[in-house]
Amino acid sequence: MTEVSRLLKAFIMSLGFKKQLHLIPLMAKQLELNDYKQQIADVYNRRSHNYDESEWHLRIAHRLVEYARISPPHNILDIATGTAHVAIEVAQIVGSSGKVVGVDISTEMLSVARRKVEALSLSNVELQLADAETLNFPANSFDRILCANAFPLMTDMEATLRQWMRFLKPNGLVGFHALADTALVGVVIWQKIFEKYGVSRELSEPTGTVEKCHNLLERAGFEAIEIKTEQYGSYISLEQAKQRWSVSSYPAPKLFNPLSQLSSEQLEQIKAEFDAQLEALVTEQGIWNDGTSFFAFGRKGVDNITH
Ligand SMILES: C[S@@+](CC[C@H](N)C(=O)[O-])C[C@H]1O[C@@H](n2cnc3c(N)ncnc32)[C@H](O)[C@@H]1O
Repeated sequence: MTEVSRLLKAFIMSLGFKKQLHLIPLMAKQLELNDYKQQIADVYNRRSHNYDESEWHLRIAHRLVEYARISPPHNILDIATGTAHVAIEVAQIVGSSGKVVGVDISTEMLSVARRKVEALSLSNVELQLADAETLNFPANSFDRILCANAFPLMTDMEATLRQWMRFLKPNGLVGFHALADTALVGVVIWQKIFEKYGVSRELSEPTGTVEKCHNLLERAGFEAIEIKTEQYGSYISLEQAKQRWSVSSYPAPKLFNPLSQLSSEQLEQIKAEFDAQLEALVTEQGIWNDGTSFFAFGRKGVDNITH
């Protein structure tokens, strides 16, 4: 919390408006986001009211925490905390001897998080409006830095990991979740079609295979790298699969809106190709929607004390 928000908070408390406290950090700090990040923030501001209905995100967050081997009195940084799935679970594990900081660029996701944290009376959680790629914590502060369901949204993953390593204590762990290149049938199909039309959304992620995750962590300087692979896929109906067309307008870091580059005829043609390719995948059980997931961990060296 900045000095300004601390003073503002003290002032409002002195007026007896305790209920307003959760708004203070959001009021006191405005984030300057580029177009891509502003679009991401907008997407999650809109999704915040029903984000917690997604069982998938909760399961992934829970698994990441399980793999992270957290215990009191760990200090944890939850990157892109969203509605605080990870932050709340780890806060309950570390108890009053530990501390959890959750950061996110979406004010509305943070509002939901704040309400949940308050409802559970968790005094060891601090939520901050901040961009995960430009954080400013003291060096060697955290035992664990976790990022569930959000790491591939970072613009420069390697630089971001290097920055997070600075905030880790020696021997501390970074852990993130990422989807395989084969995951999400809608994404795989439209990416193939879009490439045919010369529009790349660069979704062939630097984290799309075990090897890519491993190499990324290694290049960023992490040791004792471990990647766990799990399947979160399921069969979905053709109708549900066709609805995945909406992912084609999801913001991408290097391209503001890929659809805007195409004529309406091209778009219609692409949509028809998309539907036809899905129809060809229908089986008796429905369409297989792959959910191959990686839980990637790397350790900061024991002797690596950042100054
Ligand atoms: C799918 S949600 C994941 C939320 C939470 N980690 C979970 O597992 O439920 C993605 C979150 O990443 C946040 N986000 C995306 N880019 C970010 C960035 N550069 N810095 C901080 N948060 C970011 C979004 O605002 C959103 O809340």
